[in-house]
Amino acid sequence: MKDYSVYFKKPSLKEARRRSREPSNINYDGLYVPDDMHGIGKGKKYYIRTYGCQGNQADGETISGILELLGYEKSDNFENSHIILLNTCAIRENAHNKVFGEVGALKKLKANNPEIVIGVCGCMAQEEGVVEKLLRTYPQVDLIFGTHNINRIPILLREALFSKEKVVEVLSIAGEVIENLPVARESKLKAWVNIMFGCDKFCTYCIVPFTRGKERSRLKEDIISEVEGLVKDGYQEVTLLGQNVNAYGQDLDTGYDFANLLEEVAKTGIPRIRFVTSHPWNFSDEMIRVIAEYDNIMPYIHLPIQSGDDDILAKMSRRYTVEEYKGLYYKLRNRVKNCSITTDIIVGFPGESEAQFENTLKLVKELDFDSAYTFIYSPREGTPASKMRDDVTHDDKKVRLQKLIKEVSASALKINKEYVGRTLKVLVEGTSKKNEKILSGYSEENKLVNFKGRKDDIGKIIKVKITGAKTWTLQGEQVDG
Ligand code: 5AD
Ligand code: SF4
Repeated sequence: MKDYSVYFKKPSLKEARRRSREPSNINYDGLYVPDDMHGIGKGKKYYIRTYGCQGNQADGETISGILELLGYEKSDNFENSHIILLNTCAIRENAHNKVFGEVGALKKLKANNPEIVIGVCGCMAQEEGVVEKLLRTYPQVDLIFGTHNINRIPILLREALFSKEKVVEVLSIAGEVIENLPVARESKLKAWVNIMFGCDKFCTYCIVPFTRGKERSRLKEDIISEVEGLVKDGYQEVTLLGQNVNAYGQDLDTGYDFANLLEEVAKTGIPRIRFVTSHPWNFSDEMIRVIAEYDNIMPYIHLPIQSGDDDILAKMSRRYTVEEYKGLYYKLRNRVKNCSITTDIIVGFPGESEAQFENTLKLVKELDFDSAYTFIYSPREGTPASKMRDDVTHDDKKVRLQKLIKEVSASALKINKEYVGRTLKVLVEGTSKKNEKILSGYSEENKLVNFKGRKDDIGKIIKVKITGAKTWTLQGEQVDG
């Protein structure tokens, strides 16, 4: 008997913190479409807005895949849609605020058309406080589900459509890897490929280990066959996704690790491979060897440092010192030809002194990051850092962020200027939004390049001679060969 039941089940952060030693079950049969849901969406539309990281973007494409399997067609606006889903991110408070604003704005739409289904899913749905607030203050929300039960959409949606009751099903413990879900990919050139889910690192500021559950790796066979399918379909690029890809395979206990996987993916012949995110802590020499050896593994590494101060790194539970990070950074720069390196930095972690912040600035001046995503620390409910004393004012934190952005921009511009005169390989994605005659795409080093070139070459990897550099983009001209 298939499990038809729908629970009114809310998240628990306490449960979400638990980690079992049991290996995760791989579920090849997790999608069940009740008979009366086949074709239910024929002639109807759905709208999905996805916030946050690439993992969430990938989930958004799976959610779309399931809705399209039910017959719904994608829409690019709220107004003509029968289902509206907000696929949310929980990483910082401002991500929350945007979503609550968006849900508020949907109230009128629901009042005018009570038949539409408004749903909230993604990482925010995994948070206790959020679900309480949605239930208490936003009656227009019909459906809430989390990150662990996307496969249950047909059943949950059925309940929302037929019972007219609020449907809430958020599982706090992630037990499974669910395979064989349909995916409606946004791009015909570049694809996300999850290699693992969840995170066990528990950095003290971070909500992700709670919203995404324990580390669960997909089996290598399933990953490789997905990539082989993408090669057949003409895809030019895959990005292997995990909260910390270095940890791939550890939960499977087979000895097969990320370096092995990367090498095997490279051998499928897919023209370009990227991966995010790498934790500096267990970035192995073998990984560096594989990245350096294969031309189709792109020389681009996102390596979050978070702070340039050892005491703050310890309070963050990052498991490395500044010296160790630098050691890895220089090893990558030396061994991987033309490698570009980007990072993430948080300013204003609880109790961060001016001197500790200056250490971060000093580090950014010393290392030449190609780019950095910079954030003001945002306390997340349930995380250890949210209970730490914080005597730095928000205004001071804003000043620190501005100083940091200035430094990061200077470093990005300096590096970009060094590209002028070089010829880069660019995957042409389309015409520039501002000017039809200008094409744009990303270089192997993940630089956004705007250039004069042939429109017929959209979808191909071509050569571009770089003629100019700005802080975040390069300009150039297509060359033959
Ligand atoms: N506050 C601010 N930034 C955060 N990040 C993660 N959690 C927080 C938080 N609570 C940042 C980190 C991480 C990136 C994805 O988001 O820099 O690498
Ligand atoms: Fe946001 Fe993290 Fe969830 Fe990604 S995993 S959507 S960054 S909270």
